[in-house]
Amino acid sequence: MTSPQASEDAETLLRIAVAAATEAGRLLASWRGDERPAVVETKSSPTDIVTEMDRRSEALITSRIRAHRPGDAVLGEEGGQTAGGPVASDSGPPGRVRWIVDPLDGTVNYLYGLHDWAVSIAAEVAGTVVAGVVEVPRHGETFTAVAGQGAWLHRGEAKVALHCSSAVSLGQALVGTGFGYNAGRRQVQGEVIAALLPYVRDIRRGGSASVDLCSVAAGRLDAFYERGLNYWDFAAGGLIAREAGATVGGLAGKTESTSMAVAAGPGLYQQLDTFLTRLNPERDAQRCQGRDA
Ligand code: IPD
Ligand code: CA
Ligand code: CA
Repeated sequence: MTSPQASEDAETLLRIAVAAATEAGRLLASWRGDERPAVVETKSSPTDIVTEMDRRSEALITSRIRAHRPGDAVLGEEGGQTAGGPVASDSGPPGRVRWIVDPLDGTVNYLYGLHDWAVSIAAEVAGTVVAGVVEVPRHGETFTAVAGQGAWLHRGEAKVALHCSSAVSLGQALVGTGFGYNAGRRQVQGEVIAALLPYVRDIRRGGSASVDLCSVAAGRLDAFYERGLNYWDFAAGGLIAREAGATVGGLAGKTESTSMAVAAGPGLYQQLDTFLTRLNPERDAQRCQGRDA
């Protein structure tokens, strides 16, 4: 159980995260160029891209967090981990809070003018995610959660509590997933999805892991799994899905990680866990280069 003091702190962190995510979402949505935003860098593969907007979004978020909480560490997809500076005495012990930022989750969708992309910000206290926001500007939706306080969808002034789907069998499940950028990993991911497809209702590949996790929270997907996500892809969305009643973890009793993240209602999670564990989706480790195994 979260103490009242801790949840009040987490709510303060959430307010900072929501303000930064809203502003970054507006910046990203304001792109009106006739051209696609410029790709300024490729990372693990030629299709793993960074646009100028990913960078501008992260710079804005970092500056807003730093303005409120100069002593906190920030782990951003584009900027990596930066430690906080000196702090005022009322900001809590230095290094206690770390912000996990994906400034634009679903960059390929963004580049192509598809609507499933998001700004994802989570706040960790002493290594545990306590608050998270996933801002989805093209849908006008903001998903939030504070640990122990449930998950919420905000649309304008309206605010609704989120609940994942329940009592859905694997055969009836709509399952979201995603694919990495490394060719060897994608080959195994293709083999896994081919084996799973005959045993589920259908699959979806939305293109933004944080949105997928919020879709599980909202019952728009029954389950989601992906091999090889980065922490910033699932830190906020994982909390939101969990607070909406989903089980979030890895396979065979492990916690969610950059190796595997799974989210589903408890019964379905068990079925998917058993099915996927048998397929060994983490077997690509030896074929992959350039991304964490
Ligand atoms: C990607 C998206 C995608 C997932 C990839 C992620 P990015 O994040 O979340 O859905 O399949 O694994 O890397 O690169 O758009 O921030
Ligand atoms: Ca991402
Ligand atoms: Ca990103």
